[in-house]
Amino acid sequence: MIVAIDGPSAAGKGTLAKRLARHFDLAHLDSGGLYRAVGLKLLRAGQDPADEALALAAARSLRPAELSDPALREEATGKAASIVAAMGPVRQALLDFQRAFARTPPDGKAGAVIDGRDIGTVVCPEAEAKLFVTASDEVRARRRSEELQGRGEIAIYARVLKDMRERDARDSQRSVAPLVAAEDAFVLDTSDLDADEAFAAALEVINQKIG
Ligand code: C5P
Repeated sequence: MIVAIDGPSAAGKGTLAKRLARHFDLAHLDSGGLYRAVGLKLLRAGQDPADEALALAAARSLRPAELSDPALREEATGKAASIVAAMGPVRQALLDFQRAFARTPPDGKAGAVIDGRDIGTVVCPEAEAKLFVTASDEVRARRRSEELQGRGEIAIYARVLKDMRERDARDSQRSVAPLVAAEDAFVLDTSDLDADEAFAAALEVINQKIG
């Protein structure tokens, strides 16, 4: 069983995906972490994330340990991630890993919940359940600001909103695997929902699909 959860940044995909994975006893993959790890690797090496040859080399040489670096969550890493994510060869290099995870989830799990931007459209178009989780720009920017502040980072709402819109535009307008809801995805707007309500709504949709 594969559950695909796509949507723009800070819409609540990650929290929801983790909770659904726990509920259904499935493996969870945060596919954004792969793009973030590539971006971070370049930043750490003092390299330009816009350099496609270097980005591709970084993607091909990713190691599992690089997927748990706390700096993955930083805003600068997110920006670098969205730059490398617009490159077809980089996406191709990361595709096999994601498909293998879906086909053979770790720890003998019977399936996976994968969150990202193109899971329902490109990585796992065959997924049994697809959700496109979204929320208004303002709500997402507020949530992201609070998350950053909670981690002790300085976050100015107006700046977070501007950066987020810039990243969403890059993700939506790129020519390869742009951020778009799959035709058969259920669109879940979480603007007026808290985490529990979003989980309950997602559960209902998935149970209908698989039931
Ligand atoms: O979801 P997260 O904010 O961690 O993703 C970081 C960036 O990685 C996104 O802005 C997007 O550019 C890219 N990404 C992608 N496809 C995915 C997951 C993430 O292009 N499936």
